[in-house]
Amino acid sequence: MINNYQIKTFEQYQEAYKRSVEDPEGFWADIADTFTWRKKWDKTLEWNFEEPDVKWFKGGKLNITENCLDRHLKTRGNKLALIWEPNDPKERFVRFTYKEMYERVCQFANVLKKNGVKKGDRVCIYMPMIPELAFAVLACARIGAIHSVIFAGFSAVAMADRINDAGAKMVLTSDGLNRGSKQIPVKRVVDEALETCPSVEKVIVVERLGWAVNMVEGRDVWYHDEVQGVSKECPAEEMDAEDMLFILYTSGSTGKPKGVVHTCGGYMIYAQYTFSNVFQYEESDIYWCTADIGWITGHTYLLYGPLLSGATTLMFEGVPTYPDMGRFWQVCDKFGVSIFYTAPTAIRSLMSGDIDHVLSYSLDSLKVLGSVGEPINEEAWHWYHTHVGKERCPLVDTWWQTETGGIMISSLANVTPTKPAHAAFPLPGIQPILVNSDGTEITENEVEGHLCMKFPWPGIIRTTYGDHERCRLSYFSTYKGLYFTGDGAKRDENGYYRIIGRVDDVINVSGHRFGTAEIEEAINHNEHVVESAVVGYPHDLKGQGIYAFVICKEKPEREDYLRAEIIETVVEKIGKIAKPDKIQIVSGLPKTRSGKIMRRILRKVAEGDTSNLGDTSTLLDPDVVDEIKEGAL
Ligand code: PRX
Repeated sequence: MINNYQIKTFEQYQEAYKRSVEDPEGFWADIADTFTWRKKWDKTLEWNFEEPDVKWFKGGKLNITENCLDRHLKTRGNKLALIWEPNDPKERFVRFTYKEMYERVCQFANVLKKNGVKKGDRVCIYMPMIPELAFAVLACARIGAIHSVIFAGFSAVAMADRINDAGAKMVLTSDGLNRGSKQIPVKRVVDEALETCPSVEKVIVVERLGWAVNMVEGRDVWYHDEVQGVSKECPAEEMDAEDMLFILYTSGSTGKPKGVVHTCGGYMIYAQYTFSNVFQYEESDIYWCTADIGWITGHTYLLYGPLLSGATTLMFEGVPTYPDMGRFWQVCDKFGVSIFYTAPTAIRSLMSGDIDHVLSYSLDSLKVLGSVGEPINEEAWHWYHTHVGKERCPLVDTWWQTETGGIMISSLANVTPTKPAHAAFPLPGIQPILVNSDGTEITENEVEGHLCMKFPWPGIIRTTYGDHERCRLSYFSTYKGLYFTGDGAKRDENGYYRIIGRVDDVINVSGHRFGTAEIEEAINHNEHVVESAVVGYPHDLKGQGIYAFVICKEKPEREDYLRAEIIETVVEKIGKIAKPDKIQIVSGLPKTRSGKIMRRILRKVAEGDTSNLGDTSTLLDPDVVDEIKEGAL
């Protein structure tokens, strides 16, 4: 029996929450018991937040793919596991039953093995949203290889950094990808990246566009050649609960992205538990998460969470605006989607179009709506709830992070109350607290503070790949004995949480995380640039836009040329997703006498609010502020 741990009423939620605090080990052990283990664990939890060292289900043996696939074969073998909708609505969709998915994953796993991948090897996946991406991820998990999926919008340089950090042995990719009306040469980006990646021995290329691409002799092979005659059975590797399942790179407040590590047992339990409870998943649901598998949302809620639950998950290759702004709603009607999970940035962009794009579809099948990735503003919340959900569907605003593995604070659809633009209550098993900047806990309501967690949950980050100290410094050192999320939050008079946004130097652009330092580092690569400072500012569509203040070696003749060049540098170093929206050329930056940039001032300028810049007397050169104010874009 799967999904037997589902909280159905508010009373049950309250009971479960209480138990999860009083007896966390008993609470999680009962949930873990509903999964398939090769060997049960010896100890449910061992932890300290000082090192940090967190182990869940110690000594337990399992393979997550046996839980995603094998265990469903008897009862759900002919049920749809995956529906794939292509970018172009004129191209035919493809469906895979659990049995077919199982066979595809096994075959892919055998192809990996045949090409030398072994348990513990790191495999980088840089692929478009095609079924083979899902098979590839699970194939790695099947044989105990550690997958590191890199969103296919990152540049060659960004990919190379991640491959080298992980020491990946293999890259899985495709010839090209479709994105709306564009086609993008993916393999060419991989070739460029691999010029600086000595650890990569093999590249497997999946055909998507039918392009003739450069194939390096001895290194590159086509998937369709390799899979010929390969068995559809592949025994699953036995994994320890704490063996690494995957690495996923995300941005922090320093220039270098960090490889967040999740492990097999805890992540599995947390992905399924949160999926089933937050969306109140039922056996007949058709579930669609619009996130790319290149992000954590795609990992947990397109792939692992739904498959662990025996659900039918929909994967969409395209974008919300192609061929028109009604594409999401057309797909919902086409497949009878009942649970729909997307990002506020998508909602905001669709809101700006003609309302008929929504009203011309029935959307009758929808039961539950979800939001993820950034704070959803009230206007977007109401539009989504009214026009998409017809005021009939509960809207769950799910707060979580790459590091948390799954949803942490959210209402449970139809079970716990919701409030527009509020993530609401913690899930049972999650113990959030708000602290002051000195780390003291704020216990009362109607307050604001830094959001921390005081107790581990199974999906918590275990380490940052290859650099455990970085993990400690980033999350466990700011406030002693606590996991610090980097977010600020409010708690209202009734205990509802509302996430305000990052309090560190991380910005959230269209639900994608970037460190300001990472973008500055990219900008500084431009030969004309001496120094730069990047801040976020409120942006109607993206949530936050990127505003760069740049000092140049000499005053450029044509500022527009220089701006275009700087943008090109960022696209080359990170990818199009990190393109600055505004670039202001300045002669100096507001710095304290100790040389620290006062970002508070830059943020105000970027926001267009220069009426009160606060105390500028500690600045080395206060005049620079007037110049920046005058030149503001
Ligand atoms: O600032 C929070 C914001 O996104 C950050 C995590 O980003 P990432 O690791 O890329 O994961 C995104 C998908 C889980 C958080 O620190 N964030 C995420 N969800 C919400 C949110 N902010 C407000 N409300 C949310 N529902």
